[in-house]
Amino acid sequence: MSTPPAIRILPGPEELARAAAEEVARRLVVAVTERGRATIALAGGSTPRRLHAHLASEAGSAVPWDRVVVFWGDERHVPPDHADSNYRMALESLLSRVPIPPYHAHRIRGELQDADEAAREYEDVLRAAFGIGPRDVPRFDVVLLGMGADGHTASLFPGTSAVSERSRLVTSTWVERLAAHRVTMTLPVFDAAAAVLFVVSGEDKSATLRDVIQGPSAGERLPSQLVRPHAGELLWLLDRAAARLLRGTALRDADCREC
Ligand code: 6PG
Repeated sequence: MSTPPAIRILPGPEELARAAAEEVARRLVVAVTERGRATIALAGGSTPRRLHAHLASEAGSAVPWDRVVVFWGDERHVPPDHADSNYRMALESLLSRVPIPPYHAHRIRGELQDADEAAREYEDVLRAAFGIGPRDVPRFDVVLLGMGADGHTASLFPGTSAVSERSRLVTSTWVERLAAHRVTMTLPVFDAAAAVLFVVSGEDKSATLRDVIQGPSAGERLPSQLVRPHAGELLWLLDRAAARLLRGTALRDADCREC
């Protein structure tokens, strides 16, 4: 039985990034303490940069980075040195600043000409890294996710087949709006996680966030709303601008120590 989503609201983007880094670090330390290693799927886009910077400094100082295994929830269909690469963003802001062994950073090979080949290859990487069979789903200690103003998360965009994928762990998808292919983990992976942390910042997402958190079920029109860890926690980490339209119980129950 999954617990209801928890919400933590921070005053601004910097406080959000620090709080999110502390939340991630705490869970990584517990996982290593309990099981000898921690697994995390990183989010793409721009919001994680600040979070990574905090993880690479004081907020992550207690993390036994040599025991952390890093994956990506999604990747653009570009080479690893491309400006749009989620791997490059994480390398610059985190991996180059903490002692994670290179063989513990499993990137999606966005440079492959066939995005679906990259997806299938990454699914094999996942299964091998978690030591699971063809019908099992990996249970990440932490999945970091962002949310777009259209309600997408990872590369699960409204109206795409990736949102409804329930067999594959990783799939490729054509995103018409971006005129680009993406490679993304699928909902079964996110829903199997021990902890899913959405980190959402900015007023431009406030209406979508209200719809996702407080609105009626919107099915595949709001993929972020479909993320429901079935035996794990779901935590929304928001800044005040993103949370400005939340009302009633969602806001009352929100943890807003720093607001
Ligand atoms: C990506 C991400 C995507 C991102 C959201 C929010 O590859 O772009 O995985 O899901 O998290 O689009 O992006 P921002 O953090 O840039 O607002």
